[in-house]
Amino acid sequence: MPNGVEQQAEIEEGSDHREISVAEFFEKNKHLLGFENAQKSIITVIKEAVDNSLDACEEDEILPEIHVLIDEIGDDKCRVEIRDNAIGLDRETIPKVFGKLLYGSKFHKLQQSRGQQGIGISASAMYAQLTTGEPVTVWSKQEGEPCHRFVVRIDTEENEPEIIEDEVIDEDSDEFPGDKDYYFDHGTTIEMDIEAKYTKGHHSVRNYLKHTAIMNPYARIVLREPSGNKIEYPRVSKELPEKPKEIKPHLHGVELGVVMRMVESSSARTVSSFLQQEFTRVGRTSAQEICDEAGVDDGRRPNTLEKDEIEQILNAAERVKLQSPPTDCLSPIGEDLVLKGLKKELNPEFSTAITRKPTVYKGNPFVVEVGLAWGGDIEEEGSFDELRYANKVPLLYKKSACVTTKAIEEVDWSRYNISQSGGRPQGPLYVLVHIASVWVPFTSEGKEAVANYDDIRKEMRLALQEAGRKLGRYIGRKERQKIQEKKKRKLTSYAKEMAPAIAQLAGEGDEEEMENKIQKLVERDYNPEQL
Ligand SMILES: Nc1ncnc2c1ncn2[C@@H]1O[C@H](COP(=O)(O)OP(=O)(O)OP(=O)(O)O)[C@@H](O)[C@H]1O
Ligand SMILES: [Mg+2]
Repeated sequence: MPNGVEQQAEIEEGSDHREISVAEFFEKNKHLLGFENAQKSIITVIKEAVDNSLDACEEDEILPEIHVLIDEIGDDKCRVEIRDNAIGLDRETIPKVFGKLLYGSKFHKLQQSRGQQGIGISASAMYAQLTTGEPVTVWSKQEGEPCHRFVVRIDTEENEPEIIEDEVIDEDSDEFPGDKDYYFDHGTTIEMDIEAKYTKGHHSVRNYLKHTAIMNPYARIVLREPSGNKIEYPRVSKELPEKPKEIKPHLHGVELGVVMRMVESSSARTVSSFLQQEFTRVGRTSAQEICDEAGVDDGRRPNTLEKDEIEQILNAAERVKLQSPPTDCLSPIGEDLVLKGLKKELNPEFSTAITRKPTVYKGNPFVVEVGLAWGGDIEEEGSFDELRYANKVPLLYKKSACVTTKAIEEVDWSRYNISQSGGRPQGPLYVLVHIASVWVPFTSEGKEAVANYDDIRKEMRLALQEAGRKLGRYIGRKERQKIQEKKKRKLTSYAKEMAPAIAQLAGEGDEEEMENKIQKLVERDYNPEQL
């Protein structure tokens, strides 16, 4: 009979079972991350890089300057280059950021940011490698430091970076990224060759950048299209939104398994101090109340808690009154910037914006902002469109699955003088909806649509109704003015005809004077401006 080791070896030899690395999984399932086809993939690659650049700039309170350069290098192949003026990455971090999936600085933080998962840019590098066989090239420079250039490939079986080139670049050398027009003192440049289709229209790089420019009006973004055409999305505000703070989880939003892990690794000596240290809004009194309610001794060591006891603590926390989590972990852009963004990119006749007060879904703070842009240049662009955002990132796909669309459909737009068809408003109207949260509940890893949670949809509907009332008042006034103008014109044209007859009836000889008097009366009583 074989011993244990021999038995194991036999099983492994004859078995089809193998471990699968996360990189192998996503290489096969790249559609889950937004790489379904060549048209969408170029948007995804640029979106992942631009999101990171904006996050990195805001983290260090730098006004963002981002350049996106695209060249066609073959049939359905493009070289894309994204440069930013953020703080840059250090030498040790660069290979892992671009050559290892699920590696990042944001996943473990409860703080509003565009990125969450630590997979966006490495998955883009993997897509490049998969479709053109080319590794990613990265230049990164921190202030006062030399510029590092790396060429990195992902070893998909191991999900580890494979460094092909690693050098320090002299600023005057020809290899320094790009022409001096684009030179930044600090920042990161990424270059990738990818299978791509550069198109125009709703699902395009241009539209993604235009939407980004609306929600990030403090950024300057430049796009160079494959034709050489340059488009600038200018900066119209020098003020960055307030930087979000990191918070701890709230007891109303954590799962049992997570707390089981937390009790194992916590340095707290008692259950009471564990609850106070690891969770937001738990003080000594509420910790005691929770433990009493759960029937657990608050002086016990946390790692002695059984699964059932943790469950009792979580249930008790639902019954004990806890303050909502603090909301300084959020960074909405505010009504003023929403208006600036809409005006600069859409040039509407009327625009209005609402930023709601922060609130909570499943223990996670969130805030909703909406904007309405009506008339002006939008008349030419089309009838109605949605501008959907999550943490300032445009969402271009999966509209019908998104809570924003559901909220728009819940509003009775006809009450605001806007015609409606199939539950949707008609143009010339653009409706902007933004959710900012420490954890946006996306419907999938591709981060394309936000889940339809009641609390979130309600906030969106209330904000839309508030903004709708303002737009309704504007349109109503405009319509009344039109009617008044028409009446005024009609009466003015009668004044000349009626003046002689009225002058005669009134026994006044001067017809011209009578005409002037009638005209003055019309002006006084039918002035559209006074409505
Ligand atoms: N241009 C950049 N400047 C500075 N740091 C960057 C830049 N790009 C990426 N990083 C760092 O690399 C990490 C990994 O980026 P990646 O896009 O893969 O994940 P993420 O942004 O954390 O989350 P997500 O997968 O949701 O995008 C980031 O967390 C950030 O710390
Ligand atoms: Mg990212």
